[in-house]
Amino acid sequence: MEEETSKETGNDRIVEDKFYSDAKDYWAAVTPTVDGMLGGFAKISPTDINGSKAFLRPYMKISGGSVTPKRALDCGAGIGRVTKRLLLPIFEEVDMVEQDKHFCDNARSFIGPESNRVVNIFCSGLQNFVPAQGAYDLIWSQWVLGHLEDQDLVKFFQRCRAGLAEGGIMVVKENTVDAESKTFDDNDSSYTRSRTELMDCMLKAGFKILIDQKQKDFPKDLYPVYMFALQ
Ligand SMILES: C[S@@+](CC[C@H](N)C(=O)[O-])C[C@H]1O[C@@H](n2cnc3c(N)ncnc32)[C@H](O)[C@@H]1O
Repeated sequence: MEEETSKETGNDRIVEDKFYSDAKDYWAAVTPTVDGMLGGFAKISPTDINGSKAFLRPYMKISGGSVTPKRALDCGAGIGRVTKRLLLPIFEEVDMVEQDKHFCDNARSFIGPESNRVVNIFCSGLQNFVPAQGAYDLIWSQWVLGHLEDQDLVKFFQRCRAGLAEGGIMVVKENTVDAESKTFDDNDSSYTRSRTELMDCMLKAGFKILIDQKQKDFPKDLYPVYMFALQ
């Protein structure tokens, strides 16, 4: 990897290289709106959120599942689209982790009054973020993991496993390619992985894949989007 520098600060390894700094620069120039979050596809947000709600429902205690509706973490949260529309209506408290400072700064005004139940907004790259041990009933990660290199993704999954509370799950919702191996987009410095590649990283981190399911009713010209429930 070009131009990589690794610094040790306490127990954290801070990863900085061109792959990460290019993505950071890309997002710094994006408007803090739903359209900005979704690359001009704000219109798919309601279908996305309804699909996520239906996916999550069977895992919640109220439906006989193991997930307590207490504390959720939204990863790569942007301005909090998922936090506002999916997580806060279900969970008592939500934490967000997002790398871009201007998205973090705009999140509470986008979310509105319910943002008083957003306890922490961690302004950090996921490659460096360590969720508190055993803290979260749900860890939600959507449309961000293509911004992590494989080895950082596996380590991030391992830290997320450790961050789950008893009965908790992690949900990953990502674009996928039908091809065998990932494609790189140099516009926003991200990979789109195949389902097999994503699942390999999950399994390497020690996760059990409970289910994977395709998001229905998205426009045909978008990448297929899959949701994975992990424990
Ligand atoms: C496509 S947007 C998705 C936002 C949100 N998950 C949603 O679905 O509305 C991608 C987000 O990931 C953030 N991001 C990019 N690289 C990141 C990284 N390494 N760590 C954390 N967040 C990152 C971007 O700043 C942006 O907010």
